[in-house]
Amino acid sequence: MDNKKKLIETIHFIRTKTNIKPKCAIILGSGLGDFAEYLENKDVIQNSDIPHYPKSTVVGHKGKLVFGFLNKKPILAFQGRIHYYETGDLNTILYPILVAHRLGIRKIILTNAAGGVNRNFHPGDLMLIKDHINLTFETAYSVLQESKYSLKGYVYDKDLIKTAVDIADEKNIPLREGIYVGVKGPSYETASEIEMIRRIGGDAVGMSTVNEATLASLLGMKVIGISCITNYATGVTNLKLSHAEVTEVANKVKHRFSELIKAIFFKIC
Ligand code: HPA
Repeated sequence: MDNKKKLIETIHFIRTKTNIKPKCAIILGSGLGDFAEYLENKDVIQNSDIPHYPKSTVVGHKGKLVFGFLNKKPILAFQGRIHYYETGDLNTILYPILVAHRLGIRKIILTNAAGGVNRNFHPGDLMLIKDHINLTFETAYSVLQESKYSLKGYVYDKDLIKTAVDIADEKNIPLREGIYVGVKGPSYETASEIEMIRRIGGDAVGMSTVNEATLASLLGMKVIGISCITNYATGVTNLKLSHAEVTEVANKVKHRFSELIKAIFFKIC
């Protein structure tokens, strides 16, 4: 079955489970899923119940769609995401973006856990994604059945970036800005790969977001990206990396992270 037919069934099912019709959404990365708890009057749908919806296998990625309200504004939170290395299939990992678009989402915040490549970054820092470099060697165009789409400029919306920076200033929330480099994973990078990523202009590295952001932008959504720096990338220190560390640090920053996201939604929705 092609994506178009699958999407019709998926959207039909979701519409039977909730009447909430958000225009703003957030995809919650590794360890950041708890943000959905701030939503009020929630309708929660398990991904596993949704026809054609991909299922996550990674610890720290709760697979749910959470519809609810923040400051009385309807919001959709995607708790947990599928990574390319889980399926090896771009169609699967980008399905949630197609669903968001069909549901009427027009602004989307993509979040992730990332390794700090920039030597001034430390675990626990939040980084606003100014732009990305896609080292997955995949292209989001491949999931689109029509060729009418083309990127008209920057993937990450300039106005929304400015809004986020202003909010962080106002609220005194430290916010880095930088270039996110997306890789396939699942193994962490070698020190030489990190050195290369630094030389080509990367500030943070992770295994998600780049293809999602490109597709969302192609479909006309306004995109914001925020990375939670959960570890020093390989070679920045002698410390060993682990997924447990990633989720632990993400947990520690969740208060600051949530405050920032809530304020951004308040302004943009
Ligand atoms: N590398 C790639 N992906 C990651 C990292 C990292 O160091 N930390 C969290 N996700």
